[in-house]
Amino acid sequence: MLTSSFDVVDLLTRDHRLLERLLEELDQERQPIQASLLFVRIVRELAAHETAEQGIAFPALGAALPANNSGERERLAEHREINQLLAEMQRMMPEEPGFEARATTLRLELQDHFHSEEMSVFPRLRACVDRRQLVDLAEKVMTARAGDPAVSTASSPRGGHS
Ligand SMILES: [Fe+2]
Ligand SMILES: [Fe+2]
Repeated sequence: MLTSSFDVVDLLTRDHRLLERLLEELDQERQPIQASLLFVRIVRELAAHETAEQGIAFPALGAALPANNSGERERLAEHREINQLLAEMQRMMPEEPGFEARATTLRLELQDHFHSEEMSVFPRLRACVDRRQLVDLAEKVMTARAGDPAVSTASSPRGGHS
């Protein structure tokens, strides 16, 4: 069962760790088929993660903050750059020149992005949004993901491994 202390920040942080692990594996994978499978998984996990952030967690923070909020806009721009990199990689085969370099860039970009979220947005979520609401938001994300078999149990407090 869910523990009442597991909130949406725990869930998003857990996603970050899973994605970092998968991105590291992709960076080191030299077998094209394995790299392809890993990449497909990363795209799905990342999409689920961004949906949870932009559709569920960040709006809750937006609602709790004053209207002038340029930090959030910067972070949405970061998401756009990452999505562009993903779109380029989706049009490539892993054995094509340039894929490996993009995989490395993607890993580094996301590492930075996760770090900046964990240093700024996540603490503000905990500071500005009511604890009970943060726990409710985690449940909301998990309920949304329960219908998506492509997304791992990384979002579950019990899971996290594949
Ligand atoms: Fe993000
Ligand atoms: Fe994130």
